[in-house]
Amino acid sequence: MIFQNIENAVAKIAGEHRLISDYVERFASAHENRDKAFFKELGGFMALMQRDLADHFSLEERVIFPAAVNGLKDHDITLMVLNLQKEHGSLETRLSEIMENRYAIVSGRMENPIIETIADFLRDLGGHAKIEMHDLFPAMDKNIRCKTLMQRFLTLFSENEKKEKDGGPGLKSAPAADGKKKVNDDFAANLNDYTTVVHLSGEHELIAKNVTRFERALREEDKDFFAELSIFMESLETWLHRHFITEELSFFPAALNGILDYEMTMTVLNLQKEHGVFETEIESMRKNRHAILGAAGYIKNPLIERISLFLRALKAHAILEMNYVFPAIARDDACRNLLVKYLKDMKSGA
Ligand SMILES: [Fe+2]
Ligand SMILES: [Fe+2]
Ligand SMILES: [Fe+2]
Ligand SMILES: [Fe+2]
Repeated sequence: MIFQNIENAVAKIAGEHRLISDYVERFASAHENRDKAFFKELGGFMALMQRDLADHFSLEERVIFPAAVNGLKDHDITLMVLNLQKEHGSLETRLSEIMENRYAIVSGRMENPIIETIADFLRDLGGHAKIEMHDLFPAMDKNIRCKTLMQRFLTLFSENEKKEKDGGPGLKSAPAADGKKKVNDDFAANLNDYTTVVHLSGEHELIAKNVTRFERALREEDKDFFAELSIFMESLETWLHRHFITEELSFFPAALNGILDYEMTMTVLNLQKEHGVFETEIESMRKNRHAILGAAGYIKNPLIERISLFLRALKAHAILEMNYVFPAIARDDACRNLLVKYLKDMKSGA
């Protein structure tokens, strides 16, 4: 997927959005009219869509979204992009879960809970594309800085794709070596309200502790721990949700609106996408919690493996925030000032 210029890329994205809304409508009408022939082909279409959607999202995430954020420098746009980016994580996770049940799709049976799941998925995908087409892209189209940045990011994107194809290193973020204590010291020296920073740092530590606790229980086959696993996961879900909201409304916009650096923009956008993945994943695991409860005393369970992977990914996410993003915010005057403002807004409910 190498593009010569930005017009081609934008035309491609617009075409894909038309395709998405087309499919949403076709599915809705086939669903309503109980079109059996359509549902026989559903498996093939879903597989095709998964592949195309991955390309589509990737181009938006690496070119369109960073250009919107860095080019417009508008807080409302930044929040809109953060939301769209989180939806990418959530939609991708939902789609791969649908595809894991492919056998149920290809059966062609319409009386199947997965058909409702697909209907919900497509409705949300359609809504997502609509916001991009009606709210985000027109705002970018009027802005010359956005277009220049899109061109620059497109070149980076294409070069990177080529490098990846040649087996070279892709676009990766190298975390700085700063420690947590240093982050807090920097904030303490420069931020009048730094309680939230301390609070979030404490939560990051808690994530690490929980992962260690889980892994020890797994190693020692601690049946008592697994008997209480459902409670452990529920409390994790509750505070994780709060933790994510705080980051999404203050730290991430402060980093995006304060630092105009492609590397940092991409790192924050990736972290935001992971929030979408984590929230969807933990919700799905909760819905399958009968399997967790059934696992009391029986530890070798696919769900336990899934939780284990989830916790490890969560820990890596927290480490990247603590060692790379937060120190960068602490060091930068513009970012710190924005952070103070966003924290204040958040507390006053603005
Ligand atoms: Fe999108
Ligand atoms: Fe899109
Ligand atoms: Fe986070
Ligand atoms: Fe975090």
